[in-house]
Amino acid sequence: MTATIESIEELRQEALAALQAADESGLEAWRAEWLGRQDGRVTLLLRSVRDQPQEQRAQFGAAANALKNTLEEAFQERQEALRQQQLQDLATSGAIDVTLPGRPQPHGRLHPVTQTQRDIIEVFGEMGFRVAEGPEVEWAKYNFDGVRIPEDHPARDMWDTIWVDKEIGGRRDMLLRTHTSPNQVRVMEHQAPPIRVVVPGKCYRQEATDATHEWMLTQVEGLAVDEGIRMSDLKGVLYEFARRMFGQDREITFHHSYFPFVEPGVEMAVDWPTAEGGTRWVEILGAGMVHPEVLENAGIDSSRYTGFAFGIGVERVAMLRWGIDDIRHFYHNDLRFLRQF
Ligand code: DAH
Repeated sequence: MTATIESIEELRQEALAALQAADESGLEAWRAEWLGRQDGRVTLLLRSVRDQPQEQRAQFGAAANALKNTLEEAFQERQEALRQQQLQDLATSGAIDVTLPGRPQPHGRLHPVTQTQRDIIEVFGEMGFRVAEGPEVEWAKYNFDGVRIPEDHPARDMWDTIWVDKEIGGRRDMLLRTHTSPNQVRVMEHQAPPIRVVVPGKCYRQEATDATHEWMLTQVEGLAVDEGIRMSDLKGVLYEFARRMFGQDREITFHHSYFPFVEPGVEMAVDWPTAEGGTRWVEILGAGMVHPEVLENAGIDSSRYTGFAFGIGVERVAMLRWGIDDIRHFYHNDLRFLRQF
């Protein structure tokens, strides 16, 4: 039983009539019946082209293909029409009020301290420093001993440090790190020079809060260890950091300071415009040449290698760049403040 050209037109009418009659649930069945890949009626029709007499084959094939295209398009249209109808019904039945304005999607943003931390890391990343991380709950061995803070140093006092209340072998050795410097030791234990690394993270101190002190703060530690590293390398890198972070015209100054894990130790200040039209020096970080004992503690030969280290106060930098006058704003979670950045 082979179809004829005339019967293709009949098929078309039959299929379209059935499609108009189909509802949402009948659509799939219609598609299977007419356009199904295995034995849809149009598929079979196309397959029967080869049974046509030679002289009719081309014409028959074209007509069958046209039918297939027509039905595919009609199917899409019907599907869309039914979908629209469904929405319309929902609207008129009162289930949805289509006149209501859309609900705004709130856009989050990064906390100003996080933004600043990322910017700092990016600047050092461009200068070849990779990023590492260390634990916030730290051992005294890394937080203090490894960086030459001796047993009787005031920083170890229980009033300055938040100790974890657990004794191991009769000692309390676990604490919330008071700075990111223990990561100097952690990094050097796992990596041989050359080392260029920055370590961001939160630090904790038992501290009465005021406009410039919080009991939680964020630091970015930096460490470079290699043969032949000198103080001038430290200065060059930090000068470049200040200019990329705060602008090309920025001036910096170093003055001597004491940190047990560096020798010599410095604090760096950047010049900052004052309301009166002048500038003043604002300290933003501690730094220095890594003390040979710190290198040796971490298993690095200090007769061959030297290094520099620095620790940047991230909140300090954020306060400076946006003119924020009180560090406590950062952690009050007041959206009126946070939305400004
Ligand atoms: N760890 C110091 C602090 O918390 C900051 C610091 C000073 C880090 C000098 C350093 C450094 O790496 O060289 O106050």
